[in-house]
Amino acid sequence: MLNTLYRRRISILLAHTLYIRCLKYKIKMAMTKKHFWKCLLGSIAAVITLQFALHFNSFYVLNNVIDKTEELSFSNAVMSNQSIIKLPYSECKEDTSARNFTNFNKEPQTMKDFLTYRHCRSFPQLLDSPMKCGGPANSKEVSLLLAIKSSPANYERREAVRKTWGVEKTYNGFQVKRIFLIGTPKQKYEKRMMQLLTIESQLYNDVLQWDFYDSFYNLTLKQVLFLTWFEAKCPGAKYIFDGDDDVFVNTVNVITYLNSLSKDGNKHHLFVGALNTNMPPIRQTNRKYYVPQALFKGNKFDPYCGGGGILIASFTAHSIIRESQYIPLFPIDDVYLGMCLARAGLKPSNHEGIKTLGIRLPNVDSFDPCYYRHMLVVHRFVPYEMLIMWNALQITELKCRQKSRVTVEKTNSLNKKLLLE
Ligand SMILES: *[C@@H]1O[C@H](CO)[C@@H](O)[C@H](O)[C@H]1NC(C)=O
Ligand SMILES: *[C@@H]1O[C@H](CO)[C@@H](O)[C@H](O)[C@H]1NC(C)=O
Ligand SMILES: *[C@@H]1O[C@H](CO)[C@@H](O)[C@H](O)[C@H]1NC(C)=O
Repeated sequence: MLNTLYRRRISILLAHTLYIRCLKYKIKMAMTKKHFWKCLLGSIAAVITLQFALHFNSFYVLNNVIDKTEELSFSNAVMSNQSIIKLPYSECKEDTSARNFTNFNKEPQTMKDFLTYRHCRSFPQLLDSPMKCGGPANSKEVSLLLAIKSSPANYERREAVRKTWGVEKTYNGFQVKRIFLIGTPKQKYEKRMMQLLTIESQLYNDVLQWDFYDSFYNLTLKQVLFLTWFEAKCPGAKYIFDGDDDVFVNTVNVITYLNSLSKDGNKHHLFVGALNTNMPPIRQTNRKYYVPQALFKGNKFDPYCGGGGILIASFTAHSIIRESQYIPLFPIDDVYLGMCLARAGLKPSNHEGIKTLGIRLPNVDSFDPCYYRHMLVVHRFVPYEMLIMWNALQITELKCRQKSRVTVEKTNSLNKKLLLE
């Protein structure tokens, strides 16, 4: 891509060459004055055309490939190392008394890690977007904050979200903002990952990164750190979409739904998603959602919504963070939110259009956009699918059979049971 300076230089050089050429012809071929001027005018026209072509080309590239972001800021991000953060992790002292936990030595290593560092709640923030909502006072202008949990390596997912359902824009007066919630990588490419996130943060200004290891059992920590950030930097935003980077969100439907409530998220409770009630803790150590007996004694969790995608009113978010101070961190983040709600005396509720367990339909193309017209949030999409689906949904006149919606919901409540582990 050519910047303005280069375009100017090339044009001057070309104009000069063409002028010399005309001059040479005049001398060599004994051109008349009239022919000389013709030659010169022709040359000037050529230079202007070239200028235009170059300008158009760079304009086109800017808008299509890197989406209005200057090439310059990209190279700046690579060059400057001041904001690439030092490793390793900051101070969070191991809690030796965790070894006194019943059967500590029999726990899987990840659970041991969880127990040992469970008490640590504050970690330095490495990347921030403090003015995301225009500062605390102006944050009431924001209608919906998309807070998307991502891991350092999930670059492709973030890119797809940025281009599709996570686009920051104002839909008919409804302002949507986006941030990704990220911890730090542990494995060998960590330095590169840190560079990647720094670049992304400079390009898109949508990364909140804290200095804790981004692992499954640290998701609750991520949740708590995000809500703390929310209270400080964006307290007035009316609603939060709290979800994963591998869900597909029909943003327009979410907005239509929130508008239909005709309530102010700052004053009224809302916590909706795929509701789970009477869920028992899983006790087998090899399962993803394993919870030790000593950590949770009861035989069912408080009602909670699946963490893949939840809509939360600002009022509710503030209640959750207030209660969370009294509840020790828990290995499963969505269950933890349920505990905070229960302590606040608030209830989560279900929305039929939020399917965080995905849609499985027998003998039907479950990727058919018609099924997604009425949905709010669906799990799980790979990046390229997000793009296809987003594009399909932009077509206002989708040709769908009347029945498609009903089929999904019937089959799905059935499948929900089948899919539950
Ligand atoms: C980049 O890092 C090097 C050494 O790691 C240091 O000498 C240099 O001053 C740094 N540059 C900037 C712009 O911070
Ligand atoms: C662990 O428990 C033992 C006995 O119950 C106690 O003496 C010890 O101080 C405890 N260790 C820690 C670090 O709390
Ligand atoms: C959570 O992050 C902290 C800080 O990086 C780390 O010490 C701890 O091991 C992590 N916990 C888990 C369960 O990965």
